[in-house]
Amino acid sequence: MSLSTPAKTISIPASGCNINKAQLPDNALVLPPTTQLQALLTIIRNEKTQRGDFVFTSDRIIRLLVEEGLNHLPVIPRTVRTPVGKEYDGVAFQGRICGVSIMRAGEAMEAGLRDCCRSVRIGKILIQRDEETAQAKLFYAKLPEDIADRYCLLLDPMLATGGSCIKAIEVLLSHGVQEERIIFLNLIASPQGVNNVCSRFPKLRIITAWVDEGLDANAYIVPGLGDFGDSYHTKV
Ligand code: URA
Repeated sequence: MSLSTPAKTISIPASGCNINKAQLPDNALVLPPTTQLQALLTIIRNEKTQRGDFVFTSDRIIRLLVEEGLNHLPVIPRTVRTPVGKEYDGVAFQGRICGVSIMRAGEAMEAGLRDCCRSVRIGKILIQRDEETAQAKLFYAKLPEDIADRYCLLLDPMLATGGSCIKAIEVLLSHGVQEERIIFLNLIASPQGVNNVCSRFPKLRIITAWVDEGLDANAYIVPGLGDFGDSYHTKV
């Protein structure tokens, strides 16, 4: 297309995603559905996207989520002196934070958190489906020993039924983390997942980039993007 030919523009629905803002629980926040975000999501949803582009583009969305997540941490007033000898009345983050990734897909979000918060402590939780009970079962948890004193950014890119997320939150609570200090960062959620997690834990906050239509018979998010961990870590 030549520069003189204006591109065809489309209007973006105000809600941006398939769940109406009024239907969202109070403790769920969806990123503004900018054209940039939609273009990024279009790339990672495309089955033809190569792994390098999938990783690069997912990382960009993860960065948007982390930046938004940091906006929800409490701050206290802080005054500094600038190099021109004037005072600036600013703010500083009040508490310490940590990240906790739900393995293995959540590990893809660790670098985005480190890019924004240098030397942040990061824990890991491995949850898998117990084949006998069909329940989410904890297999492994390695968390900062002082996690009870920290704000916790829980990382998992796909929120399907919410089973793993709920189990991970129970693990955090059992280690003394306060529910209101947990912020769950997520790329794509199903309405069921959002409702299950938000109703069970009304004091935590979910920040997601998009809420999709629902789940298929295999509990994959639709339209979704398939298996995030496979596309990020192993797809050729
Ligand atoms: N995990 C994924 O990677 N994709 C889904 O659609 C659901 C869970």
